[in-house]
Amino acid sequence: MEQKGLNKVDLIFEQVNARDVLRKAYEMTSEEIIKQILESGLKGRGGAGFPTGLKWKYTAAEKDPEKYVVCNADEGEPGTFKDREILDRVSYKVYCGMTIAAMAIGAKNGIVYLRGEYKFLLPKLLKELESFNKILNEIGIDFNITYRLGSGAYICGEESALFESIQGERGEPRNKPPYPTTSGVFFKPTSINNVETLVTAVMIIHHGPEICSKLGTKDSRGSKVFSVSGDTPVPGIYELELGMTVQQFVNEFGDGDTKAVQVGGASGFCVPRKKFADTIIGFEGVPTGGSMKLFNSSRSMYNVLHNYLEFFTEESCGQCTPCRVGCQQLLKGIQMVKKGEVKSSYLNELIKLADVMKMASKCGLGQSVGNAFKTIVENFREEIIY
Ligand SMILES: Cc1cc2nc3c(=O)[nH]c(=O)nc-3n(C[C@H](O)[C@H](O)[C@H](O)COP(=O)(O)O)c2cc1C
Ligand code: SF4
Repeated sequence: MEQKGLNKVDLIFEQVNARDVLRKAYEMTSEEIIKQILESGLKGRGGAGFPTGLKWKYTAAEKDPEKYVVCNADEGEPGTFKDREILDRVSYKVYCGMTIAAMAIGAKNGIVYLRGEYKFLLPKLLKELESFNKILNEIGIDFNITYRLGSGAYICGEESALFESIQGERGEPRNKPPYPTTSGVFFKPTSINNVETLVTAVMIIHHGPEICSKLGTKDSRGSKVFSVSGDTPVPGIYELELGMTVQQFVNEFGDGDTKAVQVGGASGFCVPRKKFADTIIGFEGVPTGGSMKLFNSSRSMYNVLHNYLEFFTEESCGQCTPCRVGCQQLLKGIQMVKKGEVKSSYLNELIKLADVMKMASKCGLGQSVGNAFKTIVENFREEIIY
């Protein structure tokens, strides 16, 4: 498997001249913009990793004249705090990215869906938007960005629940298809992208597609902003080339006693020490929206798992049975195993339940509960049992 070292990159926070990038994009056709994004190999940074160029291409192909660009700034995954930093430091690049997406798909309106807990950033963000709008007017670009605030529900980061929330409805995921490119917010063709995806697109237009395609591996192009937390002497935000192993990551950020790394937050995967060297951080190994949580030997993996299951039980929207009941049963199940009320072999039944949830749940929340559950139970069984 292709592998890279741990290389620090400075792309997302690099200052650029918004006027110059926008003028450059303004002189390009929609097809030219999309071609550059496709050539770069950029995949969405919100977690699912769908190719951004394809998303824009599908939305551009829709005939409806009313289309939307939505920036997903809900950032609800436990352990992720990089979008906050991007918005705080380079919000004009987020606005630039939304405008370039609008030029690519043919939209006149953009909406930033901002995590409710980031409300404190709003006055600053709106002031910066005012200055940005002056640049748009100067160039003659007809694009209007507005804000909508979340109210603390993790599920509202899921794209279709987010659209429902914007429309003033309960934040519950929709059936798919239709996909957002055909029927998104207000049931109009919509390109929804993560904050970091949009900023990366700006840098692709600014520097050319090679800025992304020459970094990373075949399946995971470019760099990524990581939110590093847990048992580390150096918690914080780091932009790194994709394709390093967990071992290389731990060598840089661990405290010398790392026993596990949870890659991708509560919905991600737990990598134990014995697998550090063989596991690539990227779409070919363990994908991540950015959350990297290190655990040392003082931590109980039972407590970690219990915490995640409580989180999912609380945040499940309750719309479909496999997830609503499954989350509760997994939580109850590990509690019974820990107390010795059932045999440890009951964990095998719970693993089967997690597999059913992956197959039968309606959205990504229920489908991903099994990631952490299985990787923690399989690798730290002795810590879960009585
Ligand atoms: C439960 C759940 C929560 C999500 N939360 C977020 C989030 O906070 N931010 C985000 O960008 N994507 C989140 N996503 C992924 C979005 O549904 C969607 O894939 C993403 O906004 C697409 O942007 P991208 O292609 O740029 O990654 C979440 C998905 C699920 C299933
Ligand atoms: S999987 Fe969970 S969060 Fe998603 S629709 Fe079903 S109940 Fe709601």
